[in-house]
Amino acid sequence: MLHHSKVVGLPVSRIDGPLKVTGTAHYATEHAAPGMLYGYVVPATIATGRILAVHTHEAESFPGVVKVYTHENRPKAAFRDAKWKDEVALPGHPFRPLENDRVLFDGQPVAFVVAESFEAARDAAALIRVDYAPGEAKTDICAERHNAYVPPVPRMPQFMPPKPRGDAETAFGLAPHSVSNDYVIKGEHHNPMELFGTTVILGRDGDLTIHEKTQGSQNSQAYVCGVFGLDPERVVVRNRFVGGAFGQGLRPKHNLFLAVMASLDLNRSMKVEMSRREMFYLTWRPSCVQTVSLAADGEGHLQAVLHHAVHATSRHEDYQENVANWSGLAYACDNVKIEYEIAKLDMATPGDMRAPGAASGLTALEAAMDELAYAVGIDPLELRIRNFVHRDQNQDKDITSKALHACYREGAERFGWASRSPEPGSMREGNELIGWGMAGGIWEAQMSQAEARVRLFADGRVTVSAAASDIGTGTYTILGQLAAEAFDIPVERVTVAIGASDLPKTGVEGGSWTAATSGTAVQNAAKAVIKTLLDHAKNMENSPLADASEEQVEISEGRLVLETNHQAGVAISDIMASAGLPFIAETGKAAPDKAIMAKFSAYTHSAVFVEVRVDVELGVVSVTRVVSAVAAGRILNPKTARSQILGGVVMGIGMALHEEGMIDHRSGRIMNHNIAEYHIPAHADIHDIEVLFVEEDDDKASPIGVKGLGEIGIVGVAAAVSNAIFHATGKRIRHFPITLDKILESEINP
Ligand code: MOS
Repeated sequence: MLHHSKVVGLPVSRIDGPLKVTGTAHYATEHAAPGMLYGYVVPATIATGRILAVHTHEAESFPGVVKVYTHENRPKAAFRDAKWKDEVALPGHPFRPLENDRVLFDGQPVAFVVAESFEAARDAAALIRVDYAPGEAKTDICAERHNAYVPPVPRMPQFMPPKPRGDAETAFGLAPHSVSNDYVIKGEHHNPMELFGTTVILGRDGDLTIHEKTQGSQNSQAYVCGVFGLDPERVVVRNRFVGGAFGQGLRPKHNLFLAVMASLDLNRSMKVEMSRREMFYLTWRPSCVQTVSLAADGEGHLQAVLHHAVHATSRHEDYQENVANWSGLAYACDNVKIEYEIAKLDMATPGDMRAPGAASGLTALEAAMDELAYAVGIDPLELRIRNFVHRDQNQDKDITSKALHACYREGAERFGWASRSPEPGSMREGNELIGWGMAGGIWEAQMSQAEARVRLFADGRVTVSAAASDIGTGTYTILGQLAAEAFDIPVERVTVAIGASDLPKTGVEGGSWTAATSGTAVQNAAKAVIKTLLDHAKNMENSPLADASEEQVEISEGRLVLETNHQAGVAISDIMASAGLPFIAETGKAAPDKAIMAKFSAYTHSAVFVEVRVDVELGVVSVTRVVSAVAAGRILNPKTARSQILGGVVMGIGMALHEEGMIDHRSGRIMNHNIAEYHIPAHADIHDIEVLFVEEDDDKASPIGVKGLGEIGIVGVAAAVSNAIFHATGKRIRHFPITLDKILESEINP
């Protein structure tokens, strides 16, 4: 089916790279308009309660201030009767800025200052005083665990646990080896480099051009039109460049609402950019508590898997993610019971953060697997190999492909796993204990729906357009490569236009589905262009392609030719000239194949191997080596693909050792809302990371063989690090992040 590849599969440098490194790629708030106003948000200083009064006088008389908005004077929005449907909607009531006197979470916007300059808005905002009647905030997931409930309205049916199979409790009780423990993971906050921000440019005719940091320009456009009752023809949302997002940009944030509200109210262009601090008051990876119980027979074959997960949500929405279901399909087991609940906290609604659910759930499962390996007395990798399953037992479906054995084999070999001495604390150099740990990762290989348009010009140039987003993942580049391949041109001859709501329809960029989905749409559009080209070629006099079908032709060196005989063909420029066309443009579509998905599940898989060194006296952990072996179908671009996995591994190291939203549970307020005190891995924390892609052919997960790479890189990393720490120190730390105080708390090498 696929010809010899000339561009797809090559490590092409990202085509948007030069724009980014020269500063000519303009992000959401790097646009301007004459007479633009600037907005600044005043965040609440309580986590729950009521606003008694907002004192705005001083701010209003501050030089340059145009208007101060509070819940008392906010212009009406269509909110309640809006027909708008968030693509990433949650059951409950989405947060509506400045709606009333209720405070639902720390940092909630309680006032919004608009001024002639950013500085004036910021300084005036500091003059606003708010009187509150605070309530008692509940923000500790461990304390609220007993109030957890099964979400009454599922966000997605597949997030709900599969029906229990077998009799997990009885099997657990009968098995010779078992482990059962609680795992706690603290809440994490997305920290993309680009802050959330919106620039609203008001056209002379009242049209709005909105530059917005989002993972879905069309979702934001629909939000603006729905909430403010605007004509969709008169609102364009652009997100040509997005400086990271990790899922935080899936849903519109209050900056968009406030910017558009003020722009319409004041009839001026507007800019609103959040501070780094405000980024901590938004969606977050929910804190969670999980109980995982595993049992095995004498050879390590799993006899029972029980996984009970509870994670946080807000008072106003039931955020949900698939935390625990992975435990029912990762390994072969006939006795499985999965339970899933959420618990309300007085915090902002959590949101999807890179591998939402899987990153947390597989941390617990894969740590528990390591514990089980020690209980049985076999190598942790061997335990996984013995329990390999090529079937999705949750859904009782076959799996499209699962080259996980190759991940185990190639990853272990590259890492040198075979020379591991199993005894904890057995590898030491001076003051450092060395530990080797491993874990597996899974993520869904999904497709969503998308359209793309491809235009072929007479001179052979090609343009690709789609509303798709590139959040730093490489979307521009891989779409360019697919088009270049189809038309046999260098990627430099392709112009990729994405990141705007007025381009062909695409869903939000998330779930690792963009390459498979938009890539397929581009390929289908290219095929449609070639078919149209062939139709025109057939109409030419003495056409050598008169009897050819679309399956029999391809483009080679600027000519439409017979696949089997490149001599027989017509130059593209001649076809266009004869048809009197300057270009040919066609639209292609992509969607999940329901017939395939009825029979198959599709997942990406990984095996992660980690070496840590733990300072015996200081408890400091360094992750000195990581090998991540990934099976993700066809790799369109090994360079951007590797970057995705590298980023995921770094984020996983952060999950293991660093990232933790610290809340003062007495006040319910976030204490470390900056990246000085909220730790993420810095350069000094990151050493050798090696990424391997194992060979995996899959024609079912997506028509172009792609499975997606945005999320799999993080999954399993935190567990592998914790398992390595156990191997180094003999200490099992089940509270993430594993900070040095936890390592020092009890004796190393018991
Ligand atoms: Mo992803 S967490 O679906 O952006």
